[in-house]
Amino acid sequence: MKMKIRNKAAFTDAETGLERDNRRISYEAALEGIVLLENDGTLPLKPGKIALYGAGAGMTIKGGTGSGEVRERHVVSILEGMEKAGFTVTTRRWIEEYAKRYQEGEKEYAAEFQRKLLKPWKLDMINFISSPYQYPSSQPVTEQDVKDSDTDTCIYVVARQAGEGTDRSLGEKGYRLSDEEKAGLAMCAASYGKMIVVVNVGSVFDMSFLEEIPGINAVVYYSQQGMMGGSAFADLVCGKTSPSGKTSDTWPKNYEDIPGAMDYSYLNGNTGEEYYREGIYVGYRYFDTYGVEPRYPFGHGLSYTTFSVEKKSVELCGSEVRVCARVTNTGKAYAGKETLQLYVSCPQTGMNKEYQRLAAFAKTGELQPGESQELTLAFDLRDLTSYREEDGSYVLEAGDYVLKLGTSSRNTTPAAVMEARKEITAAVCRNICRREHAVREIEPPMNMDTCEYQDGELERYIIEDDAVETVTYSYEEKADALFPYTRKLLEKLTGEELCDLVSGDGGSGGNKFFEAPGVAGCTTSALQKKGIPNICMADGPAGLRLQKVSAVTRRGTVKGTEPNVSVMGCLPGPVKKVMLGNQERQPCVYQFTTSFPVGTALAQTWNTELIERVGEAVGKEMEAYGITYWLAPGMNIHRNPLCGRNFEYFSEDPLLTGKMAAAMSRGVQTRKGCFVTIKHFCCNNQEENRNRMNANVNERALREIYLKGFEIAVREGRPGAVMTSYNKVNGTYANNSMDLVTRVLRDEWGFDGLVMTDWYATGKGLGSHVKAIEAGNDLLMPGGKKAARELKKALEEGILEEEDLKRCAGRVLQGIMSSRIYQAYRRLKKEEA
Ligand code: BGC
Repeated sequence: MKMKIRNKAAFTDAETGLERDNRRISYEAALEGIVLLENDGTLPLKPGKIALYGAGAGMTIKGGTGSGEVRERHVVSILEGMEKAGFTVTTRRWIEEYAKRYQEGEKEYAAEFQRKLLKPWKLDMINFISSPYQYPSSQPVTEQDVKDSDTDTCIYVVARQAGEGTDRSLGEKGYRLSDEEKAGLAMCAASYGKMIVVVNVGSVFDMSFLEEIPGINAVVYYSQQGMMGGSAFADLVCGKTSPSGKTSDTWPKNYEDIPGAMDYSYLNGNTGEEYYREGIYVGYRYFDTYGVEPRYPFGHGLSYTTFSVEKKSVELCGSEVRVCARVTNTGKAYAGKETLQLYVSCPQTGMNKEYQRLAAFAKTGELQPGESQELTLAFDLRDLTSYREEDGSYVLEAGDYVLKLGTSSRNTTPAAVMEARKEITAAVCRNICRREHAVREIEPPMNMDTCEYQDGELERYIIEDDAVETVTYSYEEKADALFPYTRKLLEKLTGEELCDLVSGDGGSGGNKFFEAPGVAGCTTSALQKKGIPNICMADGPAGLRLQKVSAVTRRGTVKGTEPNVSVMGCLPGPVKKVMLGNQERQPCVYQFTTSFPVGTALAQTWNTELIERVGEAVGKEMEAYGITYWLAPGMNIHRNPLCGRNFEYFSEDPLLTGKMAAAMSRGVQTRKGCFVTIKHFCCNNQEENRNRMNANVNERALREIYLKGFEIAVREGRPGAVMTSYNKVNGTYANNSMDLVTRVLRDEWGFDGLVMTDWYATGKGLGSHVKAIEAGNDLLMPGGKKAARELKKALEEGILEEEDLKRCAGRVLQGIMSSRIYQAYRRLKKEEA
């Protein structure tokens, strides 16, 4: 088979050892990412007859739509998982009828989609993939269904799909149950003795039906667990393993309990300007401070066994705090894992602060009944600082810092007090992303009591006045970190070539050195004569998004045989015929990648070691298929449950988010020449109008909530790349923001990698290409000739400084020269010579 562009796809579809290994890791991640929200003892179940209903029963949703899709070999549904685990599903007819209903709905959706295509001028191309096909919420459960099912045990799986470009609706297709589902659930709850509800939704869902429908015995948050979710679920249901997942978000009793609920995104009729009026009070920081009772608190999750937690020691050494505790499995029947969480209530002196913040967490290994393990939870005093805008400093204000140890944000015990006798300045920064007028934020309640202990009851540690050394950031230009040979090659490039280098290849087929079928983008192919091959980027975050089967035409063109984003499957038949390869008629090549649980589900494992292994598994696939940058992990904060991409992101909490992203980076980057791209930097917390909206946010909330996770990921995970977001932050496109891209990311956090834009985020009334380069956003993606031409013109007219261009081009080149593809290219050139 002769192919026009080199790739590393396999010539056979035989399963590889890597696929098998990675499937196992995907299974392990799913096992720890499923959260048991409620259980009256009904779970676990002995394998036997079971009535399985709901949209997600047979068509379990493995992950969201859009760029976050992954095309794996096979997905294990809940139905398949249960049957393999020895259950007899007695409602197969119901499940098959639902599948028919699904297919009919899909046909209608495709017809509607094609009608939209007739008015192309009305389409915003990058949001073309928005509004994914929504599963019909369900179909009725009849008395006959119940009778035929011949069992007293029922599992009902509620499922919802979401994806980029659009936020979830508050209605029955999104956040809430449909009337039909409610009726079905009520019917089941009334008819079956054991009733389990499973939520197969990528983000927080409305659970108020629990008040309306009596008789529900257990609730499982399945989230979206990738290709092995069904097996993991079944193994948890039958008690082979105890659940150990914990929520990574606060689940409100009612949507309206969230601050600014009805102002979010499209709900107030204005998708252009979003005001972050809740300030730092996001997620549990709001619920705990304002005394609002959540349905399920942040960090909550049940097990089949019970644990005791005993504090062993607290150490304060310089700026490092270490809390050691012993966890014991106090149950008799089941092994299990527990996650310890350490929260700190900072003094309410000076600035208003949240009631508590997560400072550290750690998970045990699997503990047998009676077995114990000691865990150490460590953090730095800098993590307890608050940002004061007036003097641009992170300060540890004087007063008592109460350490609380527990197993969820609402189940903690005070463990120690640390006292700062005077204010300590940890860092002095320059103000960033200033607005003319501050956003008017909600007022915190008066007289909050964060003590909850008697004086003298707790050990008291005094924080030395000089425990934390003050860092004063310098924003002077630093010498670039280029390899000498990168610099040498860079010097040989003309202005025009530099413009090509920072512009991506625009998705042009062209004369590439290398391309894995299905990649999201490549760097330029125009510089091969200068010894610079192109390299590739592939999406994430739930695995590598590549074409799994591609056909090779007689002319050597490689074409995927399935749409790379499912919505493309709705294109008219003749278009698909041209776009897609034909598996029947043409020889094929294969790239089987693994779909892992979505970001939220991964965060729910609270297991950084496991996430590192997931990262390494992805890194091995990158290596196998020649991908240099993985466009993942996604790490925006879950500001509101309706954000259409929450499933891709980890949590409402910056620490959990940052630790997960750092672990993923470390894992992927154990493979030399493979890099992550943490995204979307920053405040991409809304999908509606995502490429034009303006996030209005005060600097303190920006730094403490929305930048914090990225900061942790950069400092602890040293990611190779960052992707800027589409939106504006306080009036400036993130990709045009010198404050964000250079001053914060590079000058304050020491990031020395590549910054790329999100796809089509610059040009045509969006962020400016030139300003992006000036700001230090090195690479315009997917770029292309037009972008390169515009840069060249700006260069010739003196609007774009050559120095700025060179700085960015150098970083793109450095990335290319660090890649495995570059090594292969060099080898080939040597052989040819
Ligand atoms: C998404 C990114 C993605 C890129 C490339 C954009 O629409 O926002 O997350 O990496 O496409 O597929």
